[in-house]
Amino acid sequence: MTVSLDQSYAHCRAVAKKRARNFYYSFILLPPEKKNAITQDMYRGMSDAIDTAQNNPDIRCIIITGGSGVFTAGNDIEDFLRDGTSNTDTPRASNAVRFLYSLAHNVKPIIAAVDGVAIGIGTTMLFHCDYVLASTAATFATPFIHLGLVPEGASSLLMPRTMGHQRAFATLVMGRTMSAEDAQIAGFVNVVVSPGHTEGEARKVAREICHLPAEAVAISRKLIKLPPEELTRRIDQESHLFGERMRSKEAIASFKAFFARKRG
Ligand code: COA
Repeated sequence: MTVSLDQSYAHCRAVAKKRARNFYYSFILLPPEKKNAITQDMYRGMSDAIDTAQNNPDIRCIIITGGSGVFTAGNDIEDFLRDGTSNTDTPRASNAVRFLYSLAHNVKPIIAAVDGVAIGIGTTMLFHCDYVLASTAATFATPFIHLGLVPEGASSLLMPRTMGHQRAFATLVMGRTMSAEDAQIAGFVNVVVSPGHTEGEARKVAREICHLPAEAVAISRKLIKLPPEELTRRIDQESHLFGERMRSKEAIASFKAFFARKRG
């Protein structure tokens, strides 16, 4: 089945499959509204795309991209504000957690193409990916602390594991932004290319993976990843704290300040 990109845009599910010789890769494209900020519907669409790929032997890998100019501005802050000020005592909104679970349990190689800002979950999801391409225009930031929040997506486990405690502290706790070059040196970006070229390069990587022996890829990938149970345990711990923080005065004030910034 081939779904056109236009159709996937229209449905806000951002799912399409592209043919690479005899096999397919799933293509997840974040829609462009609000700098690709991720809403609950989009989390569900991405989870569905990942979950659907799992039991389909013809789908050999997955590409996640924001298109040209931006990867994603992270979680929709309007959703944060709504959840933070609602009376329900839940942890983080369920579709976001479901997406993180889909990433943790995913068995197909994921390629990310980052051409612009990757904020919050836009950066933390990359630590679940297997191959990350960034353009020289890409920047990576996890400003959880500035929003009165705490790390999510098992980033408190995966970031220090990938780039060491000190770099993880500067990024996750101090909220410092990294350039594409910084991210490559830190070890979570494979290749840096010119703006406008990440998606094309990602397709080449997908074709390369599609031609590898699928079972050997799956076994080898599993050997080098942390087990899903360890990831979901950390996702749960973080989500619990994240949910508490979302309802804190600090967080609610920062969400409101974001929307008030243009009026000020
Ligand atoms: N949630 C909701 N809306 C968002 C958003 C988000 N995460 N990020 C951007 N938007 C909206 C803006 O409110 C603006 O809407 P408007 O045109 O109706 O005013 C529109 O997207 C464009 O954003 P703007 O800030 O004007 O663009 P910019 O190029 O100056 O800055 C960003 C882009 C991404 C750097 C900036 O929008 C930003 O910092 N966003 C918040 C990132 C964030 O903290 N995410 C949560 C991480 S946990």
